[in-house]
Amino acid sequence: MPNIKLINIVGARPQIIKASAISRAIRKHFSNQITEIIVHTGQHYDKEMSEVFFDELEIHKPQYNLGVGSAGHGRQTSLMITGIEEILIKEKPDCVLLYGDTNSTLAGALAASKLHYPVIHIEAGLRSFNKSMPEELNRIMSDHSSTLLFAPTNAAFKNLMSEGFRPENSPPYTISNPKIYLTGDIMYDNTLFFAGLAEKKKDKFLEGLSLIRNNYVLVTIHRDTNTDDITVLNKILVTLKTLAEEKDIILVMPFHPRTIISLKTWLGKLYEDLKNCAHIKIIPPVSFLEMILLEKNCRMIVTDSGGVQKESHFFKKPCLVLRKETEWIELVNNGTAKLVGSDPDLIRKEFLNFMDSDPGFEYPAFYGNGKTAEFILNEILLMFEKE
Ligand code: UD1
Ligand code: UDP
Repeated sequence: MPNIKLINIVGARPQIIKASAISRAIRKHFSNQITEIIVHTGQHYDKEMSEVFFDELEIHKPQYNLGVGSAGHGRQTSLMITGIEEILIKEKPDCVLLYGDTNSTLAGALAASKLHYPVIHIEAGLRSFNKSMPEELNRIMSDHSSTLLFAPTNAAFKNLMSEGFRPENSPPYTISNPKIYLTGDIMYDNTLFFAGLAEKKKDKFLEGLSLIRNNYVLVTIHRDTNTDDITVLNKILVTLKTLAEEKDIILVMPFHPRTIISLKTWLGKLYEDLKNCAHIKIIPPVSFLEMILLEKNCRMIVTDSGGVQKESHFFKKPCLVLRKETEWIELVNNGTAKLVGSDPDLIRKEFLNFMDSDPGFEYPAFYGNGKTAEFILNEILLMFEKE
């Protein structure tokens, strides 16, 4: 087997969590063959959006942190490209590994592909078919800059084929002759691995929040379409508050800083009402193990997060998706996730449906066998062996 240098690019919270699955698999199975360098763009920087994950998930600290921080899309992405390019020129890696669909993903894809370093994209092929989402543009451009593309679901694999990617391509793989794979989801690897560890914190954590199993609903909101339009954010939160009071159930809201900033800036009165409401607990972002506990023990999940949608499935919880479309379409087809957008009537209808009925849902294994990171790393090594 060859010995390769791999640059692992992270920036936003979910990418740090995803990178932990890859880092763990390298440590466990490939430490003699893969040297990993972690580059953090600094897109997320608050302790609870970044550092907490490095500590808790035992990923080594990034060798580089570009400290880019928050800015408009153009400035943020261009600072990342500049920083990543300098690191690539210095480190001369064999390949660059990217996750998902954030500006950090796009910056890594552009910097690496233009310097002719092979890009490996994990979570390739996901599409919302809504190009007004910044993430949709990031996904498409990253996929089309990649050499190895790992699609986590059948739907994602099919999307790649319909965009012209060919599964039958044979080595040597390049950006012009890319290879696509249907794999599972590395986040499922993580859930299986960390759920047991989370259990040890369970009693203290849930008691600390005065939460009882099955007696609360977990809510996360961070999409620009929901946080940056105050009418939309107001509609969603007022509807959820009314439902919580009516059904006498607690809503736990570990909110992204973006949502808190919008509330404080534009919806001060509502923010006060929510903080004073006995049925609502707005809390700072939690660690991944704490999030697992919140997901595993809740009655239902309401979210606009991609990752949290999937985790609702891993923990067999029904999920209201505060979006009009989703990349994780198998969840909707399964009937266990409902697309409700920000429509108060739809939110109400589906919330009550999930609360009042016990439909005995099935949660099929859509996301692999928990060994996806290992599979991906093996395929990466094979690419270099064949060269
Ligand atoms: C980004 C990704 C989104 C992903 C999400 C995961 C893009 C375009 N979007 O969205 O796909 O789902 O991360 O969480 O890349 N902020 C802080 N502290 C932080 C980070 C952000 O206060 O540590 C605030 C800033 O006001 C910032 C805002 O959140 O302007 C948005 O942050 P940004 O990274 O631009 O986008 P996210 O909404 O986090
Ligand atoms: N998450 C977390 N703490 C939180 C909120 C989310 O650890 O307070 C985890 C969640 O379990 C999932 C990931 O972060 O694994 C999802 O990130 P986010 O919702 O920010 O982004 P998305 O998945 O939508 O890109």
